[in-house]
Amino acid sequence: MSFEIRTFAASDLAGAKAALESVFRRAGSDECYNEWEFAERLLQSDGYVKELCLVARDGKAVVGYNALTKARIGGAPGLALGPLGVRKEAQGSGVGSALVWESIRRAKAAGYPWIALLGGDFYKRFGFEPAAPHGITVSDDAFENAHTQILFLDEVARGKTAGRLVYCDAFYDAQGRLL
Ligand SMILES: CC(C)(COP(=O)(O)OP(=O)(O)OC[C@H]1O[C@@H](n2cnc3c(N)ncnc32)[C@H](O)[C@@H]1OP(=O)(O)O)[C@@H](O)C(=O)NCCC(=O)NCCS
Repeated sequence: MSFEIRTFAASDLAGAKAALESVFRRAGSDECYNEWEFAERLLQSDGYVKELCLVARDGKAVVGYNALTKARIGGAPGLALGPLGVRKEAQGSGVGSALVWESIRRAKAAGYPWIALLGGDFYKRFGFEPAAPHGITVSDDAFENAHTQILFLDEVARGKTAGRLVYCDAFYDAQGRLL
């Protein structure tokens, strides 16, 4: 399939939410991952960085979305990746990888030292590594900490980056729990 990676524009919002919902909503369950709401919540957050919020488009249709948002580890600034989602019918065509590579390229160009995330094996191919050995945690939840990963964009940051990963406000509920 043909697609292009572009900076997210306000006109992409409905398509981006629909793409995220199509992969994150769990059928037959009231309890669902609500990753698609982040596409909107982020726009109101001080963690939103316009040029680090991306969509993949096939013509006018949004087939994928990824955001990098401002985050901190041990108080020091960097970026958090996600939500990342690619419509099922567009998966396996390089869309997800293109979104991540372009995000990394832009983050490096802007001088950010690291990108952290909560996720699975997909991210190894981009150089993400487990964050726990660096003394980085995201919560008191062992599962979440085991899935926290980091990519150092600046080797000087390696060895100096430790502590709690804190996402921007959009990722927490009113009680301060990570959504
Ligand atoms: C994960 C996701 C973004 C990948 O997007 P995509 O466009 O299919 O990715 P690409 O086509 O660039 O890459 C496909 C490759 O990734 C691998 N891959 C896909 N999902 C994977 C996963 N969950 N874990 C490990 N590898 C995965 C595929 O096997 C394929 O491998 P290959 O290149 O060796 O053949 C997409 O499958 C998706 O939206 N999934 C549901 C939402 C999700 O899990 N988001 C990530 C949250 S942590």
